[in-house]
Amino acid sequence: MNLSAYDLTGRTAFVTGAASGIGRASAVLLARAGATLHLADRDEPGLKETAALIAREGGTARVHPLDVTDRSALAAAVDTAGPLHVMAAVAGIMHTSTVLETREEDLDRVLAVNFKGVLHACQEAARSMIASGTRGSIVTMASGAMDTASPGLLCYSVAKAAVVQLTKTLAVEAGPHGIRVNAVAPGWIRTPMTDRHEPAAQEQAEAAMARHSPLRRVGEPEDIAHAVLHLACDASSFTTGQILRPNGGVAMPW
Ligand SMILES: NC(=O)c1ccc[n+]([C@@H]2O[C@H](COP(=O)([O-])OP(=O)(O)OC[C@H]3O[C@@H](n4cnc5c(N)ncnc54)[C@H](O)[C@@H]3O)[C@@H](O)[C@H]2O)c1
Repeated sequence: MNLSAYDLTGRTAFVTGAASGIGRASAVLLARAGATLHLADRDEPGLKETAALIAREGGTARVHPLDVTDRSALAAAVDTAGPLHVMAAVAGIMHTSTVLETREEDLDRVLAVNFKGVLHACQEAARSMIASGTRGSIVTMASGAMDTASPGLLCYSVAKAAVVQLTKTLAVEAGPHGIRVNAVAPGWIRTPMTDRHEPAAQEQAEAAMARHSPLRRVGEPEDIAHAVLHLACDASSFTTGQILRPNGGVAMPW
């Protein structure tokens, strides 16, 4: 079997949210596939740890400490990366409040990071790819919450639904340039975002999620990194505007 479609040697990949969880695992895997990495996150120590992990395996990574809501900072970082082949827009935050308790500032903050941050990353990546004539791949991070109703998740769900719409719309608009745009919509993944800090509560929450999965487990960041790699590389060269759901087969319980 020829696995060269998974080879990213000579390509440049930019990952937001690369200091932790899914972003870190994706960056490490893209580097393992041969890409030169540009890592962006607001958590500078975490970014440096990810870069060190990549360097330890012989890869190359440059860090860009920034907030994805700062469009000009993101644009400058993408510019320094040179012609991009891959953008993985992973950075995101969790927020929970019931509909009645949701304040305007909560909604604004979640939309700013989880939607506008992804929009900026997509815009800058597409701009770079079109300018350099690169037939690149953009991968966004949605969530199972994008099309389910869960108590307390209004702001998060709305932002993830918007990411899906952005993904599909950009796929249509950028397709003629040879640029592919797809989303990954993970189920419950064990990362700091889903860490309840209380071991007993954590175990209970994970067990409850695992019971709803035909695979009887929650996900690990590497499960999602493999989905990102698939969409980033030539193995998915005829796939665009799609939502890949690595979620252990979970049909949300509510
Ligand atoms: N963990 C899950 O179960 C799960 C499920 C579905 C979707 N997701 C999505 O996957 C993505 C990654 O989540 P994770 O679970 O790895 O969480 P995580 O908290 O481990 O990582 C999120 C990263 O994003 C960074 N970040 C947050 N706001 C930022 C900002 N304004 N600017 C720059 N960086 C910022 C954080 O510093 C962190 O490094 C998110 O978009 C999340 O919504 C996670």
